[in-house]
Amino acid sequence: MSILILNGPNLNLQGIRQPEVYGTNKWQDLDKLLLDRFPNIIIDRFQSNHEGILLDKIQSAITDYQGIIVNLGALSHYSYALADGIRSISPIPVIEVHLSNIYAREESFRHHSVIAPACVGSICGFGLYGYVLAVETILQLLKKQNN
Ligand code: DQA
Repeated sequence: MSILILNGPNLNLQGIRQPEVYGTNKWQDLDKLLLDRFPNIIIDRFQSNHEGILLDKIQSAITDYQGIIVNLGALSHYSYALADGIRSISPIPVIEVHLSNIYAREESFRHHSVIAPACVGSICGFGLYGYVLAVETILQLLKKQNN
């Protein structure tokens, strides 16, 4: 069982950028948490600042992964190409995660995600722990599918 965590623009700076919004935890902290919680599952993490590279990764994920967790950063608010890419790999379950509670953010453009309707569901506002919840959810969904 393999799950992909796909992160978009600026998420490489987690732990450094706007710590008051995104927290100070680093990706390595999440890796440790995931390994501890899900020792038998392969969880790959990929990040790019480029929309086309993210789209290529979504398209190719269909052959390699049973579930995908996406945080497409600011592209979440306007990338119809990535939303269509996610729709094109159906029925692979895709879950959207945002570190911050996008609905409580000051800038109104963050209150809407064009990615959300293409996903099974969205988790936001729980920092890196949102990814743990997303893995748990994908496992439940796959279990249901296989019953
Ligand atoms: C984010 C929220 C986006 O609005 C922002 O552009 C990001 C991070 C989040 O994880 O909270 O880059 O996706």
